[in-house]
Amino acid sequence: MVNLCNIDGVITQEPAGRVPVSDRGFLFGDSVYEVIRVHDGTPLFWDEHWSRLSRSAAGLMMALDVDEHVIARRIHETVTAADHGDSYVRVVVTRGVGDAPNIDLAYANSPQTWVILVRPLELAAGKPVHLRIVERVRNDRRALDPAVKSGNYLNNVLALAEARSQGATDCVMLNTDGAVTEASTANLFALRQGAWCTPPLGAGILAGITRRAILDLLAEDGQRVCEHPLTREDLMAADELFLCSTLRDISPVSHLDGRPMNSSSRTASLSHLFTEHLRRQRTERDMPRWRELLDGSR
Ligand SMILES: Cc1ncc(COP(=O)(O)O)c(C=O)c1O
Repeated sequence: MVNLCNIDGVITQEPAGRVPVSDRGFLFGDSVYEVIRVHDGTPLFWDEHWSRLSRSAAGLMMALDVDEHVIARRIHETVTAADHGDSYVRVVVTRGVGDAPNIDLAYANSPQTWVILVRPLELAAGKPVHLRIVERVRNDRRALDPAVKSGNYLNNVLALAEARSQGATDCVMLNTDGAVTEASTANLFALRQGAWCTPPLGAGILAGITRRAILDLLAEDGQRVCEHPLTREDLMAADELFLCSTLRDISPVSHLDGRPMNSSSRTASLSHLFTEHLRRQRTERDMPRWRELLDGSR
């Protein structure tokens, strides 16, 4: 099965998809992106993804130059043509082709490049994680703010490589103050004294869409939650830990720095609750919203 992509509105087989060598996304990582789950043709959390894409672009001093309805239609057409069933969709927006390979924004005068990748969905939900707290720190908010989902992921690439080289399957990065931030491509929750706790956005993390949905669901379910700075010692003393993201949902941490965690039973119950919640949300919220967007794109 060949995967498809959509480059500036044209659907192409992925191996043949080309972006010019002078594209600023290629030269400087000058781009933003979203990874979206599509079930039976319906993206989950579309509004949240679009709004984060816009915020990420604003964080790079970019204003998105293609309308949401146009992108919705391109996604719909590409997902329909690919016919994978449940799909992984990656939307990448670069600052476009530069007039010269020069970082100065004065050379960025072209339209943005919009690439949509569509692949079969592979979820890592429930897969136990061996987590390691790595030396490499999360980049500082005063540099490239981790809240911006940009095409420059090298910090995370290297943090994950560090964890992998030590036998773990994912990393936790601390920030420059020594507080816990997040994993390579996922947010983190810790169960402490009966409450689910996750680092606040101010720690320098991506505002994960799954993280937000879980916080809301836990509160709705009457469980104790907090957004509070966590230390390395807090993680070590936690009763349970899990990672969450669009492609993971909820994945229990089975080992932290090589030591087995005692339990993941509360994580397993939450995971069931979350799966049910997503199913309900898809029919009650995501499907009508997507239909409305596509109708508006005609
Ligand atoms: C650094 C980082 N943190 C957290 C997440 C989880 O975000 P979401 O739940 O929106 O997928 C991701 C997702 O790719 C990420 O890259």
